[in-house]
Amino acid sequence: MKPPEIIETERLRLRIPTVHDAEAVFAGYAQDPEVTRFLTWSPHKHIGTTRAFLQSCVEAWERGGDYGWVITRREHDEAIGMVGLRVGGFKADVGYVLARPFWGRGYMPEAVQPVVDWAFAQPPIYRVWAICDVENHASARVLEKVGMVREGVLRRWVMHANLGSEPRDCLCYAKVK
Ligand SMILES: CC(C)(COP(=O)(O)OP(=O)(O)OC[C@H]1O[C@@H](n2cnc3c(N)ncnc32)[C@H](O)[C@@H]1OP(=O)(O)O)[C@@H](O)C(=O)NCCC(=O)NCCS
Repeated sequence: MKPPEIIETERLRLRIPTVHDAEAVFAGYAQDPEVTRFLTWSPHKHIGTTRAFLQSCVEAWERGGDYGWVITRREHDEAIGMVGLRVGGFKADVGYVLARPFWGRGYMPEAVQPVVDWAFAQPPIYRVWAICDVENHASARVLEKVGMVREGVLRRWVMHANLGSEPRDCLCYAKVK
C-alpha cells in the first residue's frame, strides 16, 4: 500500500523530496513566520534544519506509513510547498504547506485532492482526515474543497508554539466510507 512517488495534476507535480530541495524550501517558506503561524514547527533559522527535515522525509518513505511530497509546478522543478500523508491502520491524515507567493491560486486543493483520493481508494482505509487551527480559515477552506466534512472542534488539541504556549483548539475534518 505505497502511494505513487510522483503525482501529476493539471498545473502541479508532486514528487519525493531530496536534500537538494533544501535551498528552495528554506528560501521559499521554511523561514517565513507567516507560513508557519499555524504550524507545529517554528521558522527554520538555518538551512541545516531544512536539510535534516528533508532527509527524514526520504527515510520515512523507505520505512513506509509516512509519505511527504514536495509540490512543484509542472514547468519548474523547484519546490514551492509540501503535502504529507500519514497512514495508521484504517485511518490516514494529511498536512500541507505552501510558500506565500503561491497562495490563493487553488494550488493546495489541487495538490491535496489526488493524495486524499489515493488514500480513500485503498480498501483498508476508512477515514481520511486532517486538523487545522480554529483561526486557520485558509486551511479549513482547502479541506472543504477536497471534500472533507467538518466534524467539530477538538478543544485544546495541539500546541502551535508560534501562537503562544497554551494548547490550541482545532477544527477536525474528515472524509469517511
Ligand atoms: C492553507 C494554505 C495551504 C492554502 O493554500 P492555497 O493554495 O492558497 O489555497 P486556496 O488558493 O484554495 O485558498 C484557500 C483559502 O485561502 C484564503 N486565501 C486566498 N488567498 C489568500 C492570500 N493571498 N493570503 C491568505 N489567504 C488567502 C482564502 O480564504 C481561500 O479560500 P477561498 O478560495 O474560498 O477564497 C496556505 O495558505 C498555506 O500554506 N498556509 C500556511 C501553512 C498552513 O497553514 N498549512 C495548513 C496547516 S493545517
